[in-house]
Parts: sequence; C-alpha cells; structure tokens
Amino acid sequence: MGCPAKSIADRGAGVGVMPSPLKIARTFKKLTSVLKVPVTGKIRLGWDKKKNYKLIARIVEENGGSLIAVHGRTKEQRYAGNADWDAIAEVKSLVKIPVIGSGDVRTVEDIGRMKAHTDCDAVMIGRGALANPWIFSGLDREQVPPEQVQETVRRHLAKSVEFYGDEDGSRLFRKYAVQYLLLQTLTRETRKEILKPRPSGEFLELLNQVYAVTA
Ligand SMILES: Cc1cc2nc3c(=O)[nH]c(=O)nc-3n(C[C@H](O)[C@H](O)[C@H](O)COP(=O)(O)O)c2cc1C
Repeated sequence: MGCPAKSIADRGAGVGVMPSPLKIARTFKKLTSVLKVPVTGKIRLGWDKKKNYKLIARIVEENGGSLIAVHGRTKEQRYAGNADWDAIAEVKSLVKIPVIGSGDVRTVEDIGRMKAHTDCDAVMIGRGALANPWIFSGLDREQVPPEQVQETVRRHLAKSVEFYGDEDGSRLFRKYAVQYLLLQTLTRETRKEILKPRPSGEFLELLNQVYAVTA
C-alpha cells in the first residue's frame, strides 16, 4: 500500500487501496486465515491531507497482520518534503506488532536517529541503499574504499549483462552507475556522454576512467 505510481494507485492498487479500509480489512482477514506465512503490510500516511494511517495500521493489526512498515508521506506528497517521523512514532505507540519506519534514511546516523525518534523496531532504506548499498554493513558512502566501489560496479554490470544480454544489461545498469559513481556531480553534458549506449566492456572502461577522476 505504498506505491504512488499513477498507473498503480489510480486503479486502486498500491497506496490507492488506502481510501478503502474495508477492502484492506477483508484482504488481511482472508490472507491471514489461509496462508501459513506471516502477512505484513506497508503503508503511506494516506492518499492526501486526510491521512488515515492510524486507522489502517489498526486494521492491519486487528486482521492478523504480523508487521507494518510505514513510509511517512502521503500519496499526494510522493517524495516531496520530509518524511513525517512523528507519524511513524504514533503508529508505533498504537499497535503491538513490530513497526518498520521508512523515509529519508540516508546515512548510518539516520538509522539511529529514526529509531530514537520513533521507537520503531527496524528501519527500511530505499533510495539511500541505491546510492550506498554498503549502508547495510554500517558504512556511509564516503567510508567505502574506492576499490570496493569499482569491484561492485564491475560485478553488478556483469550480472546485469548475464541476465539481460549486453545491450539491455548495459542500458539498465546506467541508473545504478549514476548512483554508485555519484555522477550527479558531473555536468549534464558529461553525464549524457558517459551514459550513451555502448557495449558493456567499453562502458566499464569508461566508468573506471570517470571514477579515477571523481573518487
Ligand atoms: C527503487 C525503489 C523501489 C521501491 N519499491 C517499493 C515496493 O515495491 N513496495 C513498496 O511498498 N515501496 C517501494 N519503494 C518505496 C520504499 O520502500 C520507501 O518507502 C520509500 O522510497 C521512502 O524511503 P527512502 O527515503 O528510504 O527512499 C521503493 C523505493 C525505491 C527507491
């Protein structure tokens, strides 16, 4: 119940189900009665300013949900502004099932800050992990040795090519290259040049050259 994409939410899926509490109740009741695995929920704060996250969190719990993750923004906010960590704290004080906090955790320090602020049981990291997957090992991006970044880029690109083939594998890897190598810091023209379609071997060589300059 977290996805705000128009193609999903506008047809009542993702966060689009949040305005339908009875549907959520029925869905959780049904799933938790027939499945042997834990059923968990992930919500935003609601569709718009009329936030209903407290109601939905209670519904998830009362209908057998075993955990709830809360992204502290509404569908209307998409990714704008700051995630509301107070709202996550409210959910934590309202339900007994474990609560995972989500929104704006970018650094190792943020993990502790969110836990202290909300008393949540765990944090979920989205965008921060794309730029710095090493956050799960307790490292901030600037603490990761350049050789490790380079090795990860090499392996990730190789896996992408193995799975999708050379052309699509290289193309789909571009968004990760931007994050891994902090290419946002380069000018638009330079970035465009680097990310032009090219064979994966050539792409990797270029990324290594760029990284030697940006690292
Ligand atoms: C690449 C990507 C994929 C995501 N996929 C999902 C998803 O499948 N289901 C979901 O509920 N949230 C999904 N999210 C949202 C995140 O779980 C998270 O709630 C949101 O990005 C806010 O946290 P952040 O500030 O750490 O990115 C995704 C986010 C990103 C960046």
